[in-house]
Amino acid sequence: MKEKVLVTGGTGYIGSHTIIYLIETGYDVICVDNGINSDKSVLNVVEKITGVRVPYFHIDLCDLERTESIFKEHSEIHGIIHFAALKSVSDSVSNPIIYFRNNLVSLINILELSVKYNVGAFIFSSSCTVYGDVTHSPVDEDTPLKETASPYGRTKQIGEQIVSDVLKQSNTKSILLRYFNPAGAHPSGLLGESPINSPQNLVPVITETAIGRRQKMIVYGTDYPTRDGSCIRDYIHVCDLARAHTKALNYIFEGKQDKPGDIFNIGIGNGLSVLEIIRAFEKVSGLKLNYEKGERRPGDIMAIFSDYKKAKEQLDWFPEYNVDDIMNTAWIWEQNRSSQIL
Ligand SMILES: NC(=O)c1ccc[n+]([C@@H]2O[C@H](COP(=O)([O-])OP(=O)(O)OC[C@H]3O[C@@H](n4cnc5c(N)ncnc54)[C@H](O)[C@@H]3O)[C@@H](O)[C@H]2O)c1
Repeated sequence: MKEKVLVTGGTGYIGSHTIIYLIETGYDVICVDNGINSDKSVLNVVEKITGVRVPYFHIDLCDLERTESIFKEHSEIHGIIHFAALKSVSDSVSNPIIYFRNNLVSLINILELSVKYNVGAFIFSSSCTVYGDVTHSPVDEDTPLKETASPYGRTKQIGEQIVSDVLKQSNTKSILLRYFNPAGAHPSGLLGESPINSPQNLVPVITETAIGRRQKMIVYGTDYPTRDGSCIRDYIHVCDLARAHTKALNYIFEGKQDKPGDIFNIGIGNGLSVLEIIRAFEKVSGLKLNYEKGERRPGDIMAIFSDYKKAKEQLDWFPEYNVDDIMNTAWIWEQNRSSQIL
């Protein structure tokens, strides 16, 4: 029997890529999203790539009763991957209430139902933002968490604690995946980052500038004490990240987890600066990017990158794509997407 997995936020960027890997690994997938930052038409693309039509529920997870209707219709849900959240660091600084309400109420509801319906496995999308303004990298899972620079980061720190407190008392096993900076697109060129709200992550901003949808882009902060003055991050290909979720589920379903919860960093293991990423894009695309140097952005930290040894040892996961692959796939995706939009 195939295990049934409910993917929340499944029409979003990471969720949609993960659904493909789940299907390819043999899981039976259902998906819920409220469409606040994605469009359900992404499931047509998933079907094109996998041949599988994924059942979709257009539901806001903050609505407990409607969310429960999924569990009533699908009596046996073995696993949940909880992606659904709002994710903009800078937006969360301006709209903290919206972020706390959406990210925490949805999490509490889905956890309540996980316990009530005896779901076996729960994977939570956490983020490297939980480490806060770190002074040294790489960070591993034992690096103490500092105060985070944004309400978004706090929803992930609090979210991790809520998952751990709620599921400790239940039969549901959990894994918290701390993603670093997901980027890139599916190698088919059919699927990539396509948010409804204007993207604020670096790579889509670069490709949107290159294609002409934005006139120019701003590099926020070039006076940080880093090798070239811009922020340093760990860019992980979205397909590597998607694969980490199937590995995490397998780990639980194969009975390899010996304690109630586990935390894993999912990153590429080294840091690249914003200016280095821009140069990587220019190399891959052969284009010159129109960018300007600007002020630092509230909520941003100077530098962070991962130590992913734990994921390698325990989940048998490691990144297969590099920064050129990220830029290449993101650029192909942007060109395909724009030719459909125009
Ligand atoms: N992309 C990143 O840079 C990054 C980094 C670290 C962690 N994360 C986390 O990974 C997860 C997925 O991120 P993503 O990049 O795919 O974002 P995304 O915005 O593309 O996907 C999130 C999806 O959740 C849906 N959603 C939001 N609130 C909802 C609600 N209340 N009910 C139902 N659906 C809801 C949105 O419509 C969207 O489709 C998020 O939890 C995010 O915080 C993302």
